[in-house]
Amino acid sequence: MICVKILAGDCMRLRNVKNKEEIMNQSPYLIREGISNKGCWSEVFGNDYPIYIEIGMGKGKFIIENALKYPDINFIGIEKYDSVIAKALQKIPDGLTNIRMLRADALFIDDIFDHEISHLYLNFSDPWPKKRHHLRRLSSRIFLEKYDKIFQNTKRIEMRTDNYELFCYSLIAFDEHGYFFEDLSFDYHKNGSPSITTEYEDKFSKNGCPIYYVKACKR
Ligand SMILES: C[S@@+](CC[C@H](N)C(=O)[O-])C[C@H]1O[C@@H](n2cnc3c(N)ncnc32)[C@H](O)[C@@H]1O
Repeated sequence: MICVKILAGDCMRLRNVKNKEEIMNQSPYLIREGISNKGCWSEVFGNDYPIYIEIGMGKGKFIIENALKYPDINFIGIEKYDSVIAKALQKIPDGLTNIRMLRADALFIDDIFDHEISHLYLNFSDPWPKKRHHLRRLSSRIFLEKYDKIFQNTKRIEMRTDNYELFCYSLIAFDEHGYFFEDLSFDYHKNGSPSITTEYEDKFSKNGCPIYYVKACKR
């Protein structure tokens, strides 16, 4: 199967959204600064439903479709670039109450949440291919230590990627950090696409790339 890597470096070539400030100022879904909500995220939503987060949500398709499908779960999409988050904010249908978008760098994730998260999605995270940058990967031990402080009880991380090297690295990192694998696939789309996909997932799978998937859990 020929796999054409058309998206490499896409995140580096971010298109500026000219009216991003206006979009962000007007959106009731944006949280610009998450630290003041640490320990109080249930109050933001006004209920005690479980909170699921996606770090690096990109343009938001995955998290928005999940919020629509699962009204009894609260979803927070986290993204570090204003132009990207502005695009995602524009896609949220009016009246959706169980979603927020947080502008933040995952490096500060443990300053933002205090044992409040039930589930973490890492979808098509930046692969940081150079060895000297591996600790910047969102599945490196640096981040896994931070995630220990944000999960409520059981820790559950779901990861999808097109990058075999990142996937193998992450499996080892999860294992070394005490996670076991509830589900694992080296060809997640083999029997058809999942009902909710990400923007990157759609592009990669359309180009014949296998999608790697793991659901890792730690009690
Ligand atoms: C390759 S894109 C994938 C987007 C989306 N998850 C998808 O699958 O279509 C990775 C996204 O993660 C964001 N990102 C990378 N590192 C991040 C970090 N440390 N904190 C927050 N967002 C980050 C990037 O800005 C980019 O939008």
